[in-house]
Amino acid sequence: MKMERTFSIIKPNALLDNNIGNIIKRFEEEGLRIAALKLAHLSKEKAEGFYIEHKDRPFFGELVAFMTSAPVVLMCLEGENAVERNREIMGATNPAEAAENTLRKLYAKSIGENAVHGSDSLASAERELAYFFEKDEICPRF
Ligand code: PPS
Repeated sequence: MKMERTFSIIKPNALLDNNIGNIIKRFEEEGLRIAALKLAHLSKEKAEGFYIEHKDRPFFGELVAFMTSAPVVLMCLEGENAVERNREIMGATNPAEAAENTLRKLYAKSIGENAVHGSDSLASAERELAYFFEKDEICPRF
């Protein structure tokens, strides 16, 4: 088992539905610790930069519009196999395909308004954490 850090976003639809607490509680129940956390209302430029790999996909404009429609919660989650563990807890991108009791099954509205984002690899986690957090904003292990 390896201790890892991953990046997580609680998306606007979950925030507007008052599900921040439920989602964070679930991460904690599953043994993941929060090493950094902030609320932010993303600018169009910041959201476009984050999703730049999807810039040629037909839903890019819709995705950026959604991610800037209300604040989001940005987090660093830490724990054993945190990257994979977080993706199991989130469930499939499309809530119609998400397993029972996953965060997306519980809190997503659609493939776009899907409640949470989580890094898909350790390399993505490092890049995404660095995109949103300064080094000294992530707490050392405790
Ligand atoms: S993956 O894991 O990259 O293969 O997932 P993918 O299906 O390619 O989706 C990448 C992100 O784009 C969002 N998405 C959409 N937004 C709006 N409308 C449509 N149709 C749509 N399809 C996919 C999806 O929620 C993913 O966001 P993140 O934040 O990465 O989960």
